[in-house]
Amino acid sequence: MIKEYKEEGHLIYNGDAIEILTCKIADKSIDLMFVDPPYNIGKNFNGREDKWETDEAYLEWCYQWIDLCLTKLKDNGSFYVMTSTQFIPYFDIYLRGKINILARIVWSYDSSGVQAKIFFGSMYEPILFCAKNSKNYTFNSDNILVEAKTGAKRKLIDYRKNPPQPYNTMKVPGNVWCFPRVRYRMAEYEKHPTQKPIALLERIIKASSNEGDIVLDPFSGTFTTSYVAKKLNRKSIGIELDEDYTKIGIRRVLGKFELNGEDLRPEPKSYEIRNIDQQILIFEQTNETRIY
Ligand SMILES: C[S@@+](CC[C@H](N)C(=O)[O-])C[C@H]1O[C@@H](n2cnc3c(N)ncnc32)[C@H](O)[C@@H]1O
Repeated sequence: MIKEYKEEGHLIYNGDAIEILTCKIADKSIDLMFVDPPYNIGKNFNGREDKWETDEAYLEWCYQWIDLCLTKLKDNGSFYVMTSTQFIPYFDIYLRGKINILARIVWSYDSSGVQAKIFFGSMYEPILFCAKNSKNYTFNSDNILVEAKTGAKRKLIDYRKNPPQPYNTMKVPGNVWCFPRVRYRMAEYEKHPTQKPIALLERIIKASSNEGDIVLDPFSGTFTTSYVAKKLNRKSIGIELDEDYTKIGIRRVLGKFELNGEDLRPEPKSYEIRNIDQQILIFEQTNETRIY
């Protein structure tokens, strides 16, 4: 059964992505999609194992929602999709005939949790950035500029310009993005094994949508996409199968701390609980100190 929660401009669906994309989302209605599905690598999503019987079965399932997503995207819409390093080559080949792949992004991070000792540990996750129409899509390069590391620091002057001017110190990021993974001690942390950082979604949403646009994430997890979309004055649609993760979205996106009598506030972190008096104090302060 599909459950629906909403406020002006923001919709949360609890149910299966393929079913909801099919019956709830109009064709050519979405400006930007960020899609971060299960990776088929055996993660535990609140009791559901992220592992299909065969690689073929996983890919067959993925191709179903990829086709649906593309149908729901506007003609000038953008599509960002992730999966594990093992499966991204299949996505790449599948998508080539259907949409324009404009960049193959590597999200690189500092540590992989459990350190590999007998091979080279995986320190990145791939992202494909695609546009339906390579001549008509949103790309707000000025909103995502980063510091150019060369020349600028030495305040070099560009004498080819008349009059000579300092070199531009800002540039559009390349396709290797360095953002730390979400850690337990970070304010944005939620109880989910593959939460994506706010900074990653900020870059994507700022670059590939405008205020008032509709951003959709069919595998929302902790609803980082919808949370950031709302912060940046976009509209959002988030879909998530798991009921507990959906409650994170209801709190983070819709700002509700109670649902049918259930307290939706996150558990205090282990280092926050020193004694019961302090625990109460932290609960009282929660709205101020945590990022929802
Ligand atoms: C990789 S995680 C997404 C993490 C998310 N990007 C975040 O920042 O928290 C994939 C999510 O897809 C959900 N999921 C798995 N199968 C699904 C389905 N058929 N329909 C909708 N969601 C599903 C899982 O419960 C999990 O939370």
